[in-house]
Amino acid sequence: MSDTYSDRGSNDLSATKSNRPVGTTPQTGAPRNSQPKPGEPVLIGDKMTGGYGTGADILHACTVAVDKGQIAVIVGPNGAGKSTAMKAVFGMLNVREGAVRLRGEEITHLKPQERVAKGMAFVPQTSNVFTSMSVEENLEMGAFLRRDDIRKTMDQVYDLFPILRDKRRQAAGELSGGQRQQVAVGRALMTQPQVLMLDEPTAGVSPIVMDELFDRIIEVARTGISILMVEQNARQALEIADRGYVLVQGANAFTGTGKELLANPDVRRSFLGG
Ligand SMILES: Nc1ncnc2c1ncn2[C@@H]1O[C@H](COP(=O)(O)OP(=O)(O)OP(=O)(O)O)[C@@H](O)[C@H]1O
Ligand SMILES: [Mg+2]
Repeated sequence: MSDTYSDRGSNDLSATKSNRPVGTTPQTGAPRNSQPKPGEPVLIGDKMTGGYGTGADILHACTVAVDKGQIAVIVGPNGAGKSTAMKAVFGMLNVREGAVRLRGEEITHLKPQERVAKGMAFVPQTSNVFTSMSVEENLEMGAFLRRDDIRKTMDQVYDLFPILRDKRRQAAGELSGGQRQQVAVGRALMTQPQVLMLDEPTAGVSPIVMDELFDRIIEVARTGISILMVEQNARQALEIADRGYVLVQGANAFTGTGKELLANPDVRRSFLGG
């Protein structure tokens, strides 16, 4: 197994045979490694208020953020607005107040595909693979914006999730739930993101598969990619979280390091089952 994803300190998932300089977008060659202002996270949804269409606000001054190479986890009860917050950060929602900034640049009004071009990737909670396509075709779809050689990134994804290499010709719809989630994460990685957003990556998988997937997510973060994820397995997710957000009714209820939230009696009682 290659150690591409376990080489702490290397953030270069984008090393390819192309002439495109490392750390630039595949499409435009624009710099992607501009630094956020001091104290500013790589990605922040800052005091976001908004809802779907002309409906009532779902988010109320909700803030979520992630630092470079770190893992930020959003937890909270069903219907709290976790997926809505992710969609807002990715540009799928009308943010009426507040802002989204990537490396200090305001991107609140960019379309999702423009955010992808700037280094963001999003794996939604549902329908996140093309079931009738093969595993490999799914990965190729992830790279559709790229004009350079995608082979190396694909190998990195296969090294991260070896089972996908074995099943690369199989339809994604024939895979187990955990394997499908690997395809979804792999597809997102094919864009060579700097920030990877995952909405419940371990939904519907067994505890063992969940642990495995969390280990892989940690490996990805160690390459320098920032991870912002929603998790229903709150306790386990907070254990690997550099930063945690408890959302309730579209607002921040508790924020802290994963450790702080796990130790907080109110959080434990209300959200972690004691
Ligand atoms: N497409 C939509 N149009 C209108 N309202 C929506 C839409 N999606 C979600 N909502 C509403 O927004 C609120 C928050 O839903 P959201 O899916 O963000 O919650 P969640 O925290 O992700 O829940 P879960 O843990 O069940 O995934 C709910 O009241 C929901 O009914
Ligand atoms: Mg959700």
